[in-house]
Amino acid sequence: MDLTTAHDTNIFSYATDQARTIVYLHYVDLIICFGILFTVIGLVTYATIKFKARPGDAEPRQDEGNVKLEITWTVIPALILLFLGVLTAIVMNSVNPPVGKLQADVIVNAHQFWWEYRYPKTGVVTANELYLPEGVNTLLEIRSADVIHSFWVPDFGQKMDAVPGHPNHLFLKPFARGLFTGACSEFCGAAHSLMRIMVTVLSPQDFKAWTESQLKVPAAPTETEAVHGQELFMSKTCVQCHAIAGTDAKALVGPNLTHLADRKTLAAGMMANNVDNAAAWIVNPQKYKPGCHMPKMRISKEEAHDIAVYLEGLK
Ligand code: CUA
Repeated sequence: MDLTTAHDTNIFSYATDQARTIVYLHYVDLIICFGILFTVIGLVTYATIKFKARPGDAEPRQDEGNVKLEITWTVIPALILLFLGVLTAIVMNSVNPPVGKLQADVIVNAHQFWWEYRYPKTGVVTANELYLPEGVNTLLEIRSADVIHSFWVPDFGQKMDAVPGHPNHLFLKPFARGLFTGACSEFCGAAHSLMRIMVTVLSPQDFKAWTESQLKVPAAPTETEAVHGQELFMSKTCVQCHAIAGTDAKALVGPNLTHLADRKTLAAGMMANNVDNAAAWIVNPQKYKPGCHMPKMRISKEEAHDIAVYLEGLK
C-alpha cells in the first residue's frame, strides 16, 4: 500500500491551526522549564565549587530560616505556574471552543476495529480514510459504537476519546494538503494496534469533487466474475453487515463498501487495496484482525475471489 507519500510526523510537526497553537504552547513550556533547569544546575554548581569545605574550616554558620527567601521561592514558582495555567486555559479555549448547537461536518464513529466517517451535510459515508478540505474549520463529532477508542492524528494535535454514549468534539482546520496518518490511541481490544487512520487534505475544489464522486452510485458489474461476485455478496451473509449504494445491501454494522475501490488500504490500513488481499480478507478476516466483528465464513477461495472482483470494481 502506498503510504510513503504521508507527511513525516514528530512531536513538533503540525498541520492544523489548532495543532500549531498547541505546539507553540509546548515551546513556551519548554523554554520556561529549561530556564528553570539551567538556573538550578548553575546555582548548585556555583555553590558546590565556591563553598567547598577545605581542611581546617570551622563549622559553617547555622541558618535557621530566612523569611524573605522563603517567601521569594514560594511566590516565584507560584507565579510561573499561574502564568502557565492561564496560558493553557486560553489555548484550550481557542482549540476547543464551545460547540453549542453547531452541526458536525463529520461524524466519526469508532468501531472494533475500524472508523466510520459520515458527512451529515452531504450524505457521504466512508470508512478508515477521512477527507478534509484545506483551510476550512471542520467540526468532527467523535462517537463510539462499542468500547472507548481515541481518534489521534499526531499532526492534528490533540487526541480525542471516542466514548460510547458521550459524543466529543474536535475542530480541525488543516493548512497543508496531503496525506496524514494516525491510529487509535486507547486500548480497545485485541486488534487495537490495527486500527489506523488516514486523512487526506484536499484543496476546497478537489474536496468538492471528491464529495461528488462519493455520492455517485457505482455502475452495476458487467464482467462475469464481478456479476457472480455480486450475486454471492447479495445471497451470502455480507448484506447483513455492509451497505453498497444502489443495491439491496443497506446494513450499517460494518464499513460501507460503496466506493471500496477508491480506498488506499483494506482493513483500516492493514493491507494494500487489491483483489488478492480483499479475497484473502473475505476468506478469513480473523487471521488479519483478531477479534474483529467479521467472522470467518463458509466461503471458498474462488467465491471470495469473485466477491473481491465485484467489490474492487465499485468506484
Ligand atoms: Cu480502537 Cu484502540
